[in-house]
Amino acid sequence: MDLQLDALQIEDFYNLISHSKLHPPGQDLVGPPTPLCCPVQTPQEASTRLAFHFAKQRARFLGDPTVRYMKVVDRGRSNSIISIARWHYYPQGYKFESEIHWETHDLPNSNVPVESHDQGQAPTQEQAQQIPKDFNIPLHNHILRTRDRARASWIPANEPCWILMHMVTHPSHRGKGAAGMLIQWGIEQAEKDRVPAYLEAGVMGRPIYERHGFVQVGEPLKVNLEGYGGVGTFVMCTMAYVPKWKGARREV
Ligand SMILES: CC(C)(COP(=O)(O)OP(=O)(O)OC[C@H]1O[C@@H](n2cnc3c(N)ncnc32)[C@H](O)[C@@H]1OP(=O)(O)O)[C@@H](O)C(=O)NCCC(=O)NCCS
Repeated sequence: MDLQLDALQIEDFYNLISHSKLHPPGQDLVGPPTPLCCPVQTPQEASTRLAFHFAKQRARFLGDPTVRYMKVVDRGRSNSIISIARWHYYPQGYKFESEIHWETHDLPNSNVPVESHDQGQAPTQEQAQQIPKDFNIPLHNHILRTRDRARASWIPANEPCWILMHMVTHPSHRGKGAAGMLIQWGIEQAEKDRVPAYLEAGVMGRPIYERHGFVQVGEPLKVNLEGYGGVGTFVMCTMAYVPKWKGARREV
């Protein structure tokens, strides 16, 4: 398999949305926690979720200067995007207050456009997409607010860092090293900038990050889903990669 790592381009969002036409419902590159908050069963539901999800991702790609969105393309038979990762560089550190709006969705009845933060520009046709009717927005916002607010307790304030926030490989291409390439890219940026990289790993993702040199920081973060229409807890491992340069300096 011929896998190629590249920067995601604006036109790629149309390609990603079109996955609903090529694969069974839900077999796409919509990342956690959206599948938990908005499960899909029919092609129509999958298509609506994809359009909504990637309209938001696209708006962030265009409007958030910290975003470095990467893709892995299978240059072989399919020549399609099989894995994506949204890395961020925060030269002044991560700040919940100014950044959390990128992660959350507005409730449909709030009379606020989906992308109210798009610097006064009229929403594009994509951004005006309806929120899928069964999308549990309070649950989605609760998970991401809890995750991002908790960063103050384990990521040093006001210090430059890279953060990985969104990574998914298409189910038909898992286990072929695509995510590894995307993780490695972020590590190279962190090494180049001599700053740490951070992420919150889901249960599936954690061993992969460990193999690439991330270590768990403190106890896993457990988000209680009760009271938001969810069941049980959503567990995330808070993980850090320390650049070799910094590690070496500490030993001196
Ligand atoms: C986690 C995830 C991104 C990994 O993507 P991937 O492209 O399959 O990852 P890789 O192929 O680079 O690595 C997977 C590892 O599992 C092994 N593996 C083997 N068969 C596998 C399979 N069928 N599925 C997944 N991994 C498999 C690989 O060999 C590899 O191990 P290695 O690093 O020792 O070689 C992917 O499973 C996914 O999209 N999960 C759902 C969304 C998610 O959990 N995102 C991450 C949030 S932290």
